[in-house]
Amino acid sequence: MVFAPGITITNFNFILKEIFAMKKYSITLLTIVLFIVSGFVVFAADAPIKIGASFSEFDIERWPREAALMTDLGNKIGAQVIIQVANHDVKLQNDQIENMVLQGVDVIIILAEDGAAAATAVDQAAEAGIPCIAYDRLIKSPNLACYISFDNVEVGRTQARGILKVKDSGRFVLLGGSPTDNNATLFRQGQMEILQPLIDSGQIEVVADQWVPNWSNSEALKIMENILTAINNQVDAVVASNDGTALGAIQAMKAQGLTGKVPISGQDATLAGCKSIVEGEQTMSVFKDIRLLTPMAIDMAVKFAKGETPEELKDFTLAELTLDDKLKGTVPCKFLKVVGVDKESMYDVVIKSGFQEYDEVYKDIPEKDRPPKD
Ligand code: GAL
Repeated sequence: MVFAPGITITNFNFILKEIFAMKKYSITLLTIVLFIVSGFVVFAADAPIKIGASFSEFDIERWPREAALMTDLGNKIGAQVIIQVANHDVKLQNDQIENMVLQGVDVIIILAEDGAAAATAVDQAAEAGIPCIAYDRLIKSPNLACYISFDNVEVGRTQARGILKVKDSGRFVLLGGSPTDNNATLFRQGQMEILQPLIDSGQIEVVADQWVPNWSNSEALKIMENILTAINNQVDAVVASNDGTALGAIQAMKAQGLTGKVPISGQDATLAGCKSIVEGEQTMSVFKDIRLLTPMAIDMAVKFAKGETPEELKDFTLAELTLDDKLKGTVPCKFLKVVGVDKESMYDVVIKSGFQEYDEVYKDIPEKDRPPKD
């Protein structure tokens, strides 16, 4: 917290210690100092809260959308929001976070490219008295102010259930998310909770399992092309971990005449993902209403900037959040609900909620085949 431009709690204590160490202080001097400080405090009380927001990248539909919403919501309450994007560059993101601390932000919201590497930046910010919120993706530091996201294990369960609804046996391909994104670990945990019993019984056979760096659509295309070659197109279902990688895999499947025959999951209910679903290529997605997560992030950021602690947080251990028992410490968390969406539920879940536009999602569907607009 900043008392006044340049005066933080840390150096304010230093000033007081120097004064009282002087021993020869007089009541007059003390009065003058307290008068000056109180003036600063009054002045600073009106200084706008400075919120830093560090994004790993803007490649995926949701991130620029959430950054714009953060800026809009922050400005509406008189806060200054500083957005920075690291374009998947792990070192650049840590440098950007460090610079935000030097610029005197009061709190930082971070969408991490690498949840392990970003811990260094979080620890340094915490050392300087600046709270950090891990936004949607965990950062592996016990010095986080909090981690807010969706129920990512339930995302994985929902993806697996969405596939089994269409195909509950045979040869399955698993496409994991980015290896540096702890969410991908949680999605996979949920997927395997549902799939493992069927694998153990031999009803399902996992014929390929690869994780897609940076959640890259083009990487997913290449990976799926190689998998299809290796298994001679003998695949019955694909559990992909988000819409972008699903759409990359669908491109590879289309070239082999497999789309519409081999179910494939996704996540984020992106416009491209929802279009693919109503057009019969992607099978399902998971709707996560970011219009709830972003306001929560701004609300919590303001509270932390004022030295307050949001009530609705619950502690989780880093070990249970990462499935890594070597990690010690706990993080206050809040997780929002998720909803599976497929062709049948698209209108009610995604369109009626206003998350995606009817005319955009059904653009290439003949009018007679579209669901009626309410
Ligand atoms: C994950 C996030 C997903 C998805 C993915 C990239 O961290 O939880 O919702 O956005 O990144 O598509």
